[in-house]
Amino acid sequence: MSACEELREYVREIAEIHSAVALGAWDQRTHMPERGAEARAKVLGRLERMAFERVVSDRMGELLAAAERDGVCSEVDQALIRVWKREHTRNRAVPPALYQKFVETTSRAETVWEKAKAASDFALFRPHLAEVVDLVREMAKLIGYRESPYDALLDEYEPGMTVAALRPLLGSLRERLVAFLKELSRGKPPRELPAGTYPLDAQKRFCRETLTWIGYDFQAGRLDDSAHPFTIGIGLGDVRVTNRYQDDDPFPGLFGALHEGGHALYGQGNDPELAWTGLAGGASFGIHESQSRFWENQIGRSLPFWRYAHPHLVRHFPGLARAKPEDVWRHVNRVEPSLIRVEADEVTYNLHICLRFELEVDLVEGRLEVDELPARWNRAMADYLGVTPPDDARGVLQDVHWSGGMFGYFPSYTLGNLYAAQIADAAERAIPGLWAKVEAGEFAPIRGWLWEEVHRHGRVFLPEDLVRRVTGSGLGAEPFLHYIRRKYGEVYGLSGP
Ligand code: CO
Repeated sequence: MSACEELREYVREIAEIHSAVALGAWDQRTHMPERGAEARAKVLGRLERMAFERVVSDRMGELLAAAERDGVCSEVDQALIRVWKREHTRNRAVPPALYQKFVETTSRAETVWEKAKAASDFALFRPHLAEVVDLVREMAKLIGYRESPYDALLDEYEPGMTVAALRPLLGSLRERLVAFLKELSRGKPPRELPAGTYPLDAQKRFCRETLTWIGYDFQAGRLDDSAHPFTIGIGLGDVRVTNRYQDDDPFPGLFGALHEGGHALYGQGNDPELAWTGLAGGASFGIHESQSRFWENQIGRSLPFWRYAHPHLVRHFPGLARAKPEDVWRHVNRVEPSLIRVEADEVTYNLHICLRFELEVDLVEGRLEVDELPARWNRAMADYLGVTPPDDARGVLQDVHWSGGMFGYFPSYTLGNLYAAQIADAAERAIPGLWAKVEAGEFAPIRGWLWEEVHRHGRVFLPEDLVRRVTGSGLGAEPFLHYIRRKYGEVYGLSGP
């Protein structure tokens, strides 16, 4: 057996444990009875530990070294070595006692955060957050970095990404979005559709239908309800999505389904050869998010999509019969600066992320104290979005990420939006008559192109290399800004280019 084959066999066991963890986690968030929580947490903790021990084992180190010594191997094998070497090195850098402390501290911080958010009491959360920040900084130091400790954290979610690359990109994106928001405020906002009630059963039927249009395979997945929508890959032929619905508005449910459907197409499209190697999934969190944003926004919020979807919408919700396709398109493209990130529209969303990125970098680099966070947050909200949180629950306490120690995660959302616009441009060039196809409900050619260019490769390529392969250029904000100006200029009736 070759060294690479031995490595494959060894990591297969880890991938199988991860599959069991994923299934248990899916059940926990969809069907598990409340009183099963404690036992489930124990079992999942045990399984995670088993996987972790294998990742950091000396045996893994030997297998990696042997595979590297062997040299000549396929593109997939090279990726296999790269991905597992990174896991092995990162996880070994942090001593088990410190990691244990991190798990306990973040778990406690998350519980306190829930209370603090409910009571809008930052002071309650402050000492716990300070402890998390200290631990995160300590771990970054152990993992290692060249310029900024934040780079060590970013790398977990977006391999290869750095503060040096992100800071100018997001800084200029922010300035130009703030300027564009001012322009929009002089435009004519779209009319809201009349209020109504939208039965959940009809919404779920519509979402299932929409998922079928874009090529989600219900033989290789399922759609369930959960408090927060998510996509989870259990293994080969099993990539599940969940969704939530609002009975006074059918659109959050619909766009939630398109978003998760976009994530799921990625997983369902992985080359079967990648199963159980650790190379299934997506190139990075940012690339994964580009696939959800592509279907949710680039396609789902386009006028051609609503020309196709409109009769189906009306069939499920006859109360909307008087709204024309253009009315629905305008309605789903309203822009409104608001306090809450998860409710933000396409134009303002990235400003919420720029703010979080700037604060995170300053915290991790030691230029900002946790005490100063609420004031910095509120000032940035006023500067970028023109709104000031009336309390910390709707400000600095709104997201769960920091309590969980997930510093470095937020940029993935904006990277996803930027990549999605770049990929949409490339799709337009590669697929003749793309928008006529969307208007005719022919999504298969688009899905096929994404499969060929992105989905089947899983984690084989680094995000930077993948984007270059697909679009011919590196990460950039121009295609996104161009897309935003063109669409929202039209929705808001702004004159000129
Ligand atoms: Co997503």
